[in-house]
Amino acid sequence: MDIMQAIKERHSVRAFSDKPLPEEIVSQLKHEIASCNAQSGLHMQLVVDEPEAFDCRMAKYGKFSGVRNYVAMIGPKGSTLDEDCGYYGEHIVLMAQQLGLNSCWVGMTYQKVPHAYEIKDDEKLTAVIALGYGETSGRAHKTKTPSDVSSNLRDAPDWFLRGVEAALLAPTAVNQQKFVLSYEGDNRVHAKHGIGFYAKMDLGIIRYHFECGAAPQKVAWV
Ligand SMILES: Cc1cc2nc3c(=O)[nH]c(=O)nc-3n(C[C@H](O)[C@H](O)[C@H](O)COP(=O)(O)O)c2cc1C
Repeated sequence: MDIMQAIKERHSVRAFSDKPLPEEIVSQLKHEIASCNAQSGLHMQLVVDEPEAFDCRMAKYGKFSGVRNYVAMIGPKGSTLDEDCGYYGEHIVLMAQQLGLNSCWVGMTYQKVPHAYEIKDDEKLTAVIALGYGETSGRAHKTKTPSDVSSNLRDAPDWFLRGVEAALLAPTAVNQQKFVLSYEGDNRVHAKHGIGFYAKMDLGIIRYHFECGAAPQKVAWV
């Protein structure tokens, strides 16, 4: 499955079967997470076979069931933490989709389980990403249109529209899609988030999707 197919087929899934993650998949995910951590300075950790995080009222209210595996999105406190978590976390989400797994970003409806991962003194847990074999593969979210999120589409090259379309398929908190993408000439793109919960994390996710949609064009974020 190529990355664009993964983008199209990914939907949030909250109910998982009890099928465990195969060792081979665990090791591929761990390897990729380590490489993203080395690149970004984040401290993301894959937590396998840990049922407590989703064994709480919030998670049940949020209709989560069978969640035993997740990525703990952890990194050094700072102004770019949320956006970095969004960007690199979505890379892992799409890789998981390519490996046949389902996923859901979770900022609110879980509980912290401090013994399940390591958070250093200067670090923070920003969210988790539930992973596993879904009871279903989810369904497409209601979406804004390209012209709702970018003003100068007519003057922009094809790759910019492809990027915007991929961004609109991205997960955002409560499906808020509060972002604006503008073409700034040559290969330059400006991405801005609106006001809302997790809007900075959403923007990192959006930027990752945009880059996938725009490829092979390389994007310079300005
Ligand atoms: C940063 C972030 C935080 C989220 N937090 C939660 C959450 O706490 N509980 C939940 O059920 N879904 C959560 N979601 C999932 C969104 O509701 C979902 O991505 C959105 O409705 C779009 O649907 P889709 O992912 O199927 O495309 C979150 C998504 C993102 C990106």
